[in-house]
Amino acid sequence: MEFSVLTVNPAKVETACLVVPVFTDGDLLPVAAKLDDASERLIGQLIERGDFDAGLGNVQLIPFAPGLAAERLMLVGLGTRAKCNEASLRTALDATFPALAKLPLDEVVVAFSDVPVPDRTADWKARVTAEAAQRAVYRFSEFKSDPAPAPRLSRVSLLVSDPTEATASEQGARVGRAVGEGVNYARTLGNLPGNVCTPSYLAAQAEQLGQGSAGALDVEILDEEALELLGAHSLLSVGRGSEEPSRLIVMRYQGADDPDEAPHVLIGKGITFDTGGISLKPGADMDEMKFDMCGAASVFGTVKSLLALKPKLNVVAIVASAENMPDGRATKPGDIIKTLKGLTVEVLNTDAEGRLVLCDALTYAERYQPASVVDIATLTGAAVIALGHHATGLFANDDDLALDLLDAGETAWDRAWHMPLWDDYQSQLDSNFADLANIGGRPAGSITAACFLSRFTETYPWAHLDIAGTAWASGKQKGASGRPVGLLTQYLLDREVELGETPENVE
Ligand code: BES
Ligand code: MN
Ligand code: ZN
Repeated sequence: MEFSVLTVNPAKVETACLVVPVFTDGDLLPVAAKLDDASERLIGQLIERGDFDAGLGNVQLIPFAPGLAAERLMLVGLGTRAKCNEASLRTALDATFPALAKLPLDEVVVAFSDVPVPDRTADWKARVTAEAAQRAVYRFSEFKSDPAPAPRLSRVSLLVSDPTEATASEQGARVGRAVGEGVNYARTLGNLPGNVCTPSYLAAQAEQLGQGSAGALDVEILDEEALELLGAHSLLSVGRGSEEPSRLIVMRYQGADDPDEAPHVLIGKGITFDTGGISLKPGADMDEMKFDMCGAASVFGTVKSLLALKPKLNVVAIVASAENMPDGRATKPGDIIKTLKGLTVEVLNTDAEGRLVLCDALTYAERYQPASVVDIATLTGAAVIALGHHATGLFANDDDLALDLLDAGETAWDRAWHMPLWDDYQSQLDSNFADLANIGGRPAGSITAACFLSRFTETYPWAHLDIAGTAWASGKQKGASGRPVGLLTQYLLDREVELGETPENVE
């Protein structure tokens, strides 16, 4: 999708549809006021007569607008002025663009920069607008013989009332577009079925990203033989029962002026299907375990955004990928494996497999002497119980890193919540036979999973994002969300700003 910024007189804007936000109370916003003046008070009258209810998220198409160059108007309710905040704008955007995507329009002009959001500037508003537009036109119909026609909307212009905000709006739209594309890519990888999206398929995706990057992305794939030689027995133990060979996928993005600058490392859980293995899961809803590679998908999506935005920093993106199946050769409960780090693990439950692939990837990351490491995983059902489907669970061995991620999540509106990682929980992982067990019992399941990972992250600042509740939706709306591509991209863009800061301009 293409985005541009306009600063012209709203009444003169020639477009198939001009989208105008409206409060339930008080004066009209600048664009709406100008349109109102030019159209014999069309908007004011619709509101006064009760023909348009400006409640938050209400949208109404006005198919004919006298006195205006626009062919149509769409009014979008913002609710009451006093309550207007970031969530109101997001709600309005997520009502507007799906409605626009259903109409026979190729191009629209939107006036959301008028919305007064406390503490947010023009670039932020442009960013969330562009991202919402991209998300709204996403469809996954590859496997439908007769799919519904794809949305036509392909060009969105942002009408900016204050011309001094034009450049910032352009920059914001550029970020929003890149994030939206990354999000949609992650959704597609997540939505692909397990018989298509295998560890080898993910490896091929990495190769493709590398080939399309004009040298910006260096890709290395470790196959089972290489992993055996390396000593990544924990990762290999998970795919042992599968016909699909496991892979460790490494993508290196070198954007910093100094190639030796310490990279930020992302690590994604890429279990392309999780049956539970010998500790087999119950049958109901097991199809959803194709989404068990959504951590990996978010890493791919973030790499895609990075390649579009080209920030000046170094990033290493790692995906630990395997298929977890029961078989005569599969790992059994009670088996003891040796991790890449050298610690031994008693596998008490083969369904706690994510931590087994991640721990070897976390050890592998040490070689990059990273500035930070963030892993992203659909790790525990317990995270869904704790936080539901709105917040990603955040665990960290470094409070500054945790704050940076929380902050990035707020900016991207892809929020996380900080969970405890206290030593008190560690003893739940004690094993009678090995250095540690791979499960910690029923209490605090998402915390003990993070505790397991923490044993492999002692040499760098590390955070873990448990996205089991946020990576996909179930039921009628079943599908991958593309989270947390927004959070991760923002986190990395913020690190670029940090690099540019000199002691004088930092408080
Ligand atoms: N992929 C699952 C986690 C999961 C379950 C995510 C349900 C979303 C919905 C993970 O591999 C798993 O099976 N975890 C177990 C761990 C347990 C055996 C300690 C779980 O959460 O039940
Ligand atoms: Mn599992
Ligand atoms: Zn899993």
